[in-house]
Parts: sequence; C-alpha cells; structure tokens
Amino acid sequence: MSADSDILFTPFQAGRLTLRNRFVMAPMTRNFSPDGIPSQGVDEYYRRRAQADVGLIVTEGIGVDHPAALGRESVGGGASPVLHGEAALARWRAIVAGVHAAGGTIVPQLWHQGVIRVPGTGYHPEAPSARPSGTWGPTDRALVPPDYLDLVRKETAPLTESEIGDIIAGFARSAANAKAVGFDGVALHGAHGYLIDSFLWAQTNRREDGWGGGPAARSRFAGEVVRAVRAATGPDFPIIFRFSQWKLQDYEARLAETPGELEALLAPIVDAGVDVLDASTRSFSKPAFEGSDLGLAGWAKKLTDMPTIAVGGVGLDKDLQSSFAQPTMMTDNLALAAERMARGEFDLIGVGRALLMDAQWVRRMREGQAVNPFRLEAYATLD
Ligand SMILES: Cc1cc2nc3c(=O)[nH]c(=O)nc-3n(C[C@H](O)[C@H](O)[C@H](O)COP(=O)(O)O)c2cc1C
Repeated sequence: MSADSDILFTPFQAGRLTLRNRFVMAPMTRNFSPDGIPSQGVDEYYRRRAQADVGLIVTEGIGVDHPAALGRESVGGGASPVLHGEAALARWRAIVAGVHAAGGTIVPQLWHQGVIRVPGTGYHPEAPSARPSGTWGPTDRALVPPDYLDLVRKETAPLTESEIGDIIAGFARSAANAKAVGFDGVALHGAHGYLIDSFLWAQTNRREDGWGGGPAARSRFAGEVVRAVRAATGPDFPIIFRFSQWKLQDYEARLAETPGELEALLAPIVDAGVDVLDASTRSFSKPAFEGSDLGLAGWAKKLTDMPTIAVGGVGLDKDLQSSFAQPTMMTDNLALAAERMARGEFDLIGVGRALLMDAQWVRRMREGQAVNPFRLEAYATLD
C-alpha cells in the first residue's frame, strides 16, 4: 500500500453504521443456495472476507418474501437465497455470527427481480412476474442471450395496486427478518433493471396512476419500499440504496440525463429515510455528466448530501462486461480511488470481482502483497 491510499483504511461512520475501513464488498449473486437455503460453504465464503479486513460485506442478492422475487434471469440464476422461512433464517443467523466473530459487518442485499425474471421459473413458478407496465423494456439494445429474450419479450399484465402493496410488504418482512437474525443493516437493490429500477426507468414504467410519470413519480415505489423497511426496522437500522444508470436491458441506458433529473429521482428515496446511496457503475472514475469529472457517486453525494459508495473496476484493468471477453489483469488503482475520496467525492469504495478472485484482497493490498490473478473460473466456486 502506498501512503496515497491511507484514507481507504480509515474508519467510517454514518448514524449507527460504523465500519473499520472504507472497503465494501459489492453484492454478487453466487447461486449456492438451492431452494433458497444457503449451503454450508456460504458461511466460510463470507467469513474469509471478514477475517481479511473487508469493511462492509453486502451479500449476494437475496430474494424478498414475495413469490415472484426470484427465477431464471438473463445470466442464469436459480439458486439464490431467500430471507424468510425457518431453515433459511437459521442459516443466515449462523453466517452473520461468523462474520461478526471475525470482526466484520454484513448487510443483506434485498432483491426482487421484477421484469427480469423469466415467467414460470423460480421457487414459485406459478407466480406471475412483477412488471410495472407489463413490458420487459426495449429489446433492441440488450446484450443478453436471444433465447432469454424470447422468454421475456411478451408483454404481461401490469401490476395492480394491491399487488404493489403486497410486494412492498414483502420487502418490509424481509428487512425485519434481516434485523432479527443479526444483520447490521439492509441494502436495497434498486439498480440494473430489476423491480425497483423498473419503476424508476421511464422505458419500463409507463404508468399514469401515481406510480409513474415524471422522475419524482417514478421514484414513489422506491420511496414506499424504503419507508416500509424503515417502519419495520426502526429509526436506527442502516438502509443502503443501490441505483444505476445502466440496465441489463440496455448498458448505455440513462435513468437521468441531467443532474437535475438525478436529483428529482433521488430526493423521494432520501426523504423516505435511507442512510447511504450506492451508485452502481462499471467504472468508478467515469464522469457521469458532461462538464464535470465527478462520477455517479460524486453527483449523488453533491445533490443529496448523503454518504455514497462508488464502485466499478477497483483492482482490475477491465470493467465487468469487458472482462467476460477480454484478458483481464489485476491492477492497483487504489491511489485514484483514495484521491477522489480525499476530495470528498464519495465515502466508501465498492469492490466486486477483485474480492471474488482473492478473499484476502483488502489485506494483501494494504500490505503490498501480490494478489490472486483474475480468472473467470472463480465465478463458479465459493473460494
Ligand atoms: C458474479 C457477479 C454477480 C453480481 N451480482 C450482483 C447482485 O446480486 N446484485 C448487484 O447489485 N450487483 C451484482 N453484481 C455487480 C457488482 O455488485 C458490481 O457492481 C460490479 O461487479 C462492478 O464492480 P467490480 O468492477 O469491482 O467487479 C454482480 C457482479 C458479478 C461479477
């Protein structure tokens, strides 16, 4: 570690969330939880990273307590965990205890796949997929497999008012369960085209009934979810909200064309009571809007005054999509992350793939040791 990176190893505090350093393990779907119950290896997988100094672990996406939350999606899927039912809750209680014993902090990422779920799949295949306006979105821009597109392109019935209420209640129950099993807070997946994001994005939300319209109306669902989670967990339970410009339906999509639009989208979510915003990008240092070198997390912080997490490309020379097709090298770009953090652009830095490749990554970077090389095969293991 060079002295330039020191700030990344300093503690962080926001409300009840206290972290030993600024590194956040980004949420990564792992598919090692058949029938929604985490397998034994999941304990060690998270504990190893807590032992090796990760500041905050955000778990893989966990299906909320709603029958259509999980199913087959564009990149496969099928064995994601849930956070309800005695068996799953007992396993999460053990996983959380293991992370705490190692000095770590862990929050679950609550996930509803929404429009991305292939109808007729998942733990409850009979449940209709949840779509704000029945559409999956534009099908001419996606880089998803054509056989997947064929399964999702057909329009379905838009969510009814009472179905929307049921889903919000499902988020609240799962958040209450998160607190009950000892998690240190909760993270909401509001990004990448999944359910919450499909309300935020005009291409998938064409509603005219108070759940859609301008940016603030499209944020209403996200805000209601946050409000319900807050009510179910109390005033001190940290809530992290993830959002993104890009979608699985369109990597070049823009939720907000301007900072003003971003502000209008985020305001209802912040007002509803989140503690931290997590701006999901493929490159943490890429300018979000013309005329400024601020990234998306930087803009979110500037516009809302909330603590933010930046993510994308830390420790690697290729972004997520490019790394599937091109040789990818581990690299030390921590000085750049630290410089931006020191300028006040963001507060925490998310690390995804680098922490999959090497559970010891944070500790090894701090101590200037070599880290494991990048290899796609690591995605298929729980090392
Ligand atoms: C295998 C894998 C699974 C992922 N699953 C999720 C997920 O469940 N939820 C989510 O919000 N992002 C998910 N992501 C995105 C990551 O959280 C992260 O934003 C992305 O990998 C960019 O960070 P990186 O460049 O450090 O890898 C996943 C990424 C990978 C590589």
